[in-house]
Amino acid sequence: MHDLNYLLLVSRWIHLSAAILAIGGAAFMLLALLPSAKSTLDDEAHQRLREAVRKRWAPWVHTCIALLLITGATNFLILALPPRIKPMPYHAIFGVKFLMALGIFFLATALVGRSPGFATLRENSRTWLGAILLLAAIIVLLSGLLSQVRLSSQPQNGDAPSVSAVTRKMPAAEPTMIAASIMSHRPSRCRWPGATMRMAGRRTLLAKPTAHATSHTAAQHV
Ligand code: HEM
Repeated sequence: MHDLNYLLLVSRWIHLSAAILAIGGAAFMLLALLPSAKSTLDDEAHQRLREAVRKRWAPWVHTCIALLLITGATNFLILALPPRIKPMPYHAIFGVKFLMALGIFFLATALVGRSPGFATLRENSRTWLGAILLLAAIIVLLSGLLSQVRLSSQPQNGDAPSVSAVTRKMPAAEPTMIAASIMSHRPSRCRWPGATMRMAGRRTLLAKPTAHATSHTAAQHV
């Protein structure tokens, strides 16, 4: 069996499921529920339905936001910290995605909330649900871009140990050693199963992989 990273597998599964549930719910409301309620119900019944839906949907929205933040941070820590990838342009694109996600979280929380300050926002729920869906579409595009940028910014053809090899087998002392090397700008060598890593100031080179690393590249695993 391949050297799987189960934490990453579960984290991505929950991340995608939460995104599908939250964005799918918003799409259903904008495209089906709102127009149907408007064309079939009088104002009073519409208000009652709106309140009933809000009450039931709010806990799901809050749970999805919490899950997206937790699993998103987990994905980032496993996949996107140097020396596993070059920070640019990955971190810049990630910053844009993160800000857009915060925008969605704000709008979604305001729409399912009861704060009088956001009453006007709830009265124009069609517009703001549309904004949520537009932002979500861009975020999904950016997420695909992140994945491609990450794969293309990794060392080529077996020069890197797998993500799982790094996260599970890298000795605890290694980050300290890397940090010390970066701080002092002095070249040093450190070793983990699968690769020898040479640090020269801020530049990190992966060299002379062992047989273990050659057969398991990060690109094959994520
Ligand atoms: C509305 C909110 C969000 C949506 C719709 C969304 C959607 C996605 C999708 C579709 C993927 C691709 C999953 C895969 O390839 O397995 C992804 C990956 C990812 N997401 Fe999110 N996400 C959202 C929020 C967040 C947040 C808040 C964070 C950070 C805290 C985050 C961090 C990440 C990371 C690091 C990845 C991995 C990208 C890579 O492959 O390099 N996401 N997200």
